[in-house]
Amino acid sequence: MGEKTMRLDRFLTEMTSLTRTQAKEAARKGRITVNEETVKKTDGKINPETDRVVLDGREITYRAAEYYMLNKPAGVVSATEDGRYPTVVELIGDRKRKDLFPVGRLDLDTEGLLLITNDGDLAHRLLSPKKHVDKVYEVRYEGTLPEGAEEEFRRGIVLEDGTRCLPAILQICRKAQEGGEALLTLREGKFHQVKRMMEASGCRVVYLKRRSMGSLKLDEKLAPGEYRPLTKEELEELTS
Ligand code: URA
Repeated sequence: MGEKTMRLDRFLTEMTSLTRTQAKEAARKGRITVNEETVKKTDGKINPETDRVVLDGREITYRAAEYYMLNKPAGVVSATEDGRYPTVVELIGDRKRKDLFPVGRLDLDTEGLLLITNDGDLAHRLLSPKKHVDKVYEVRYEGTLPEGAEEEFRRGIVLEDGTRCLPAILQICRKAQEGGEALLTLREGKFHQVKRMMEASGCRVVYLKRRSMGSLKLDEKLAPGEYRPLTKEELEELTS
């Protein structure tokens, strides 16, 4: 295998907030060193793993891919930018890369497991409708589920707009006047799917939390808003 190299301007635009033009300007002004030598141009190649790049006295380390597990809190949007609400990516204070994005979306008021990464291939594999990756949700709801709801969900419930869902597993944990609780396992991710499935059964979701996605389970030590990098084992299981 040949040595892994990349252009200095690409390294800088990926790992810092600089644009290509700003990186070029920073070099022209002598603000960048590579292996302790000032470089005046950014079109040369570097090895991101072994060369030491310093911008304004701060070493810039390379991270090809980042993977974080976030316990998404309510009130934060599953997007990279938003004019109104804070985004899930902004919660990752330790992030190095600026091309991180959430793998899939949870509604503004939904909590729970969200994977934040810049690995587009992994995101594609987890989200592709053909892959049928199981997602488990904790649901609290108002209303009474009809008799045989589990069987109806298992056969594929029809939403109010006529869409038929794939078979899902409904486990009712608590049936009570003051509110029911259930676990729902889905193999697809339609817009507002859990809420719409529960509505089709005459119930209203009052709290929703994602507990897992494929092999990845929410670390219960993470309070809403907290995150941590995936462990090596979690990543291996997810990508195998
Ligand atoms: N289903 C919903 O209705 N909302 C979510 O956030 C996720 C699944």
